[in-house]
Amino acid sequence: MLFEKISAAKDYIQGKSSLKPSIALILGSGLGGLVNAIENPISFDYGDIPHFPQTTALSHVGRLVLGELAGKTVIAMQGRLHYYEGHSMQNLTLPLRVMWALGAKTLIVTNAAGGLDPSFKPGDIMLLSDHIDLFGDNPLKGPNDTRLGPRFSDMSDAYNKSLRQIALEAAHENHIPLQQGVYVGTSGPCFETSAERRYMRLIGGNAVGMSTVPEVIVAKHMGMQVLGFSGITNVATGGEDQPPDDAHEVVEVAGVIGQRLAPLLHAIITKLA
Ligand code: HPA
Repeated sequence: MLFEKISAAKDYIQGKSSLKPSIALILGSGLGGLVNAIENPISFDYGDIPHFPQTTALSHVGRLVLGELAGKTVIAMQGRLHYYEGHSMQNLTLPLRVMWALGAKTLIVTNAAGGLDPSFKPGDIMLLSDHIDLFGDNPLKGPNDTRLGPRFSDMSDAYNKSLRQIALEAAHENHIPLQQGVYVGTSGPCFETSAERRYMRLIGGNAVGMSTVPEVIVAKHMGMQVLGFSGITNVATGGEDQPPDDAHEVVEVAGVIGQRLAPLLHAIITKLA
């Protein structure tokens, strides 16, 4: 049972630390540098936490890091889990449910994404105003446990409006340019065809990526407030100018974006109540 798994993982962590996080961080490929800024960190290897899924990507560490950031108690996933690795939607979102059970009621999520919007350039940061789910699977499928959330959860304000306002203010004050738009989530692991990208643009997408949507669905199910950012790593317009996709380039550009995104997130967390 999902609830029992969450409780066992939560009890394990609470047995080692009495810190109660208020903010959960899930940082995308190449964007995880902020975790190193967490003060007095206590780390938990996924392998040691009951029922936790394992990361498959060789270069990825898998641990939860609990500590202080910008005056708040935070908990971060170092090593994100992706649906394309073969995790079920339910397993992939288990760590988020545990972070919620430990006390986190706000989720800040980041990802690397391709720019569907022709006005976006690699290196841009996009604040997520909404998302379109093209995964074709859902983490809430199956029996619902009302201790976690309702059967039919509200997604009408998926990316919290007042948090977005705080993000815009923090970006303005720190002179960090910010795009805004709709994230299209797809399972991957192959990149999209050019026709698929033109379709995604047509239905209202500004950026496309292979993560985030499952976590945001589960966060909203549990009543969390969500704030999301995409680091635009590549052109994904599917137009005449569409270059071939290169995963190495995605990670490299994400690393550069991370250097601007980390101070922005720090400034935002400072402003949170
Ligand atoms: N498509 C899907 N996922 C991505 C992309 C993309 O173009 N860039 C980074 N992650």
